[in-house]
Amino acid sequence: MTTVSASGKRVLLIIGGGIAAYKCLDLIRRLKEHGIGVRCILTTAGAEFVTPLAVSSLSAEKVYTDLFSLTDEAEMGHIRLSREADLVLVAPATADLMAKMAHGLANDLASTALLATDKPVYIAPSMNSQMWTHPATRRNLETLQNDGITIIPPGEGDLACGEVGAGRLAEVQDILSTVLQALKHDNPLQDLRGRKVLVTAGPTHEPMDPVRFIANRSSGKQGYALAAALAARGADVTLISGPTMLDCPPNVTRVNVETAQQMQTACAETLPVDAALCVAAVADWRPAQRATQKNKKSFAPAAGEEQKTQIDLVENPDILAWLSQHEHHRPSLVIGFAAETEDLLQHAADKLARKGCDWIIANDVSHVGDDAVMGGDNNQITILHRDGQDKWPRSSKTVIAEKLAARIAAQLGAMPE
Ligand code: C5P
Repeated sequence: MTTVSASGKRVLLIIGGGIAAYKCLDLIRRLKEHGIGVRCILTTAGAEFVTPLAVSSLSAEKVYTDLFSLTDEAEMGHIRLSREADLVLVAPATADLMAKMAHGLANDLASTALLATDKPVYIAPSMNSQMWTHPATRRNLETLQNDGITIIPPGEGDLACGEVGAGRLAEVQDILSTVLQALKHDNPLQDLRGRKVLVTAGPTHEPMDPVRFIANRSSGKQGYALAAALAARGADVTLISGPTMLDCPPNVTRVNVETAQQMQTACAETLPVDAALCVAAVADWRPAQRATQKNKKSFAPAAGEEQKTQIDLVENPDILAWLSQHEHHRPSLVIGFAAETEDLLQHAADKLARKGCDWIIANDVSHVGDDAVMGGDNNQITILHRDGQDKWPRSSKTVIAEKLAARIAAQLGAMPE
C-alpha cells in the first residue's frame, strides 16, 4: 500500500450534541496543525454546546448547520459536502446519532450527509455509561461496525453527569492519531475498484451442547488485515468471520458466523465474486450430535480409574475446495492458506493440487509463545502457485496483507473483468 502524508487531506467533522463537543474545538485546531482541512457540520444539539462562530473561527471555514439555507444548498449541496472530504468523523457521536446512522435515517443535515457519503466514516461515541451499555446502543454499535464504520472507542472515567464509567469521549490525541493514520493509509491506488472479493477469517466454533464447542487459536488478524488492505484499494469486500475480538475494518461488509456450515452458507450467498481468500481456520470436524441441553457427567468409573468419554465427529464442508471447484461461480482467483506445524511446503503443495485453488499461502504455525503466528502480529509466508513458489521475509500481518493485496490486484488486472 502506498503511504502518503495526511497533510492536504480533508475531514468532514460532524459535531453531535454532547458535553464533550467542546473538545472538538481542540481537535479542529490539532487537525489543522497537521495541514488537514476541516469542514464542520454542527447538529442542532451540538450548537447548544459550542457556537458556530467558535467552530468556524477555528476551522477557518463556513459551518454547516440545520439552518442550512437554500443558498447554501445551491453553493454546496449536502451530497457534495459528504463527498468532498477524504474521511468523515463524527465526534462526539451521541446515542441518538448512532441510532439514526444504524437505521439509515436522514432527517437532518448530519444524518443525510452520513447516508450520502462514499468515504470512510469514523465515530467517537460519548454518552452516559448506562446509555453506552444499553442493549439498544450495543445493537446499533454492532450494526455500524458491520456497515464498515470504524469506532474510536470511548474511555472510562468521570462523566459529566457525575457518574463514573465507560462512555467518556476518547482522548483528543487518540482521535487525532486514528484519523491521521487513516488518512495516511488512504490509498490513492484504486486498482481493485469494481472487483468483488470474499475473505473468510477467524476460527469456527463447532458446538457440542449449548455451552461447549470445539475451536482453535486463530485470532482472525491476518484475514482482517487482508480485508482492510483489499478495501483500501477499492475492492468491494465481504468478510465472513468466525468469532473474533476484532473490529470490522473500514469499508468492509462483515457477516458474522459461528460454524463451518454457516460460513459455507454465507459464502454461497456472497457469490459470484472475482476473488475468494480462505483465511479462516475452519474446523475440519464437528460433533455429530449437538445436545439441546448441557451434557452431564453421566457415568461412574470404577475406583482409581480415570473417566473416559467419546465424542463422535463428522467432517465439515471444505469451503476452499468447494469454492475452487464451484460449478457455476468459480471465482477467477481462489487463494487458500496452509497453516502447518511440519513439512510445510510439501503439505502446502499437496493442498494446492488437491483443493484446486490457484495459490496456497503457506505459513509455519509450529512456534507457540510470545511471537507465535496464531494470535500474534507477525507472519512469514511462502506463496505456492502453479509456476513455482515465492518466500517472503517475516513481517507484520499488516505489511503482508498490503503486499498480498498488491499482488492480487496485479493478478486480477491481468485477467478480463
Ligand atoms: O486442509 P486445511 O484445513 O489445512 O486447509 C487450509 C485451507 O483450507 C485454508 O485456506 C482454510 O481456510 C481452508 N479450509 C476451508 N474449509 C475447511 C477446512 C479448510 O475453507 N473445512
